[in-house]
Amino acid sequence: MTTLQVRLHAVTYEAPAINTYELRAADGAALPSFTAGAHIDVHLPNGMTRSYSLCNAPHETHRYVLGVNRDPASRGGSQYLHETLRTGTLLAISAPRNHFPLVDDAPHTVLIAGGIGITPLLSMIQRLEQLGRSWELHDCTRTRAAAGFVATLEPYGSRVHWHHDAEPDGVQLDLAALLKRHAPTTHFYCCGPTGMLKSFEAAAATCDGARERFHVEYFAAREAPAADGGFTVQLARSQRLIQVSKGQTILDALLGAGVEVSYSCSQGVCGTCETRVLEGQPDHRDMVLTQSEQDTNRSMMICCSGSKSACLVLDL
Ligand code: FES
Repeated sequence: MTTLQVRLHAVTYEAPAINTYELRAADGAALPSFTAGAHIDVHLPNGMTRSYSLCNAPHETHRYVLGVNRDPASRGGSQYLHETLRTGTLLAISAPRNHFPLVDDAPHTVLIAGGIGITPLLSMIQRLEQLGRSWELHDCTRTRAAAGFVATLEPYGSRVHWHHDAEPDGVQLDLAALLKRHAPTTHFYCCGPTGMLKSFEAAAATCDGARERFHVEYFAAREAPAADGGFTVQLARSQRLIQVSKGQTILDALLGAGVEVSYSCSQGVCGTCETRVLEGQPDHRDMVLTQSEQDTNRSMMICCSGSKSACLVLDL
């Protein structure tokens, strides 16, 4: 996978657990363009690779801006960014990819954020503003103090609705009521914790209009990875056969056999490990491919998806 060399240009405090990280090309050149909702993989100096949404305006080519929440359950990525990474550091990143694209000609767009799920929506807001489109944002955090990007959002006035359910006067956003009170042509985008996304999907299932107008981005797996094993992976380019045993994912088996593959989240949410399927029937468990993309069986996320056939032939 091609990587870009960037330098950490600035770190900005947003909230007690949130910083933004501004990256600029190491050689000062323009960065590849991106679309609202896109993310990049960041290869950290500690050997980890993590995926983060871009939160700046998609028309900007001089920088990428990431918003990173310091997750107490961090596997080392957000903790490293918050505690160790210093401005001036050179980093390798992937080109932007987008599994959460904005339909930018909808008559009205409702953006719903839970916590750090606001980041891809910030990019969408800037795109919708550029186009003069109608939108509103519902930003949910437990407390006022935990909310990031307040200064960025304040100029948008009444289009931004804050929901802080742990405040004395706070109430939880009623997703079902919100979805129901909009016209069946409205597009909704929800990004946040898994529980919120499941509630959103349950509410969306009871609404009229096309399913395609409800968009979600998961930051964590919704279901367990396929780890029943009992099948063989054939690597088409090297003709190697790798056995996937019980308790292993395909990624585990490949890494164990010394096969070099790209991966980041290991949970089926970032798309880094997407691999072309040449033969066989995957058991899809990811949150990246749409249902129709999964149905074609043209590609799969090898970090979490397994096989329904005895052999899978992959383009590796
Ligand atoms: S590594 Fe993120 S989807 Fe597989």
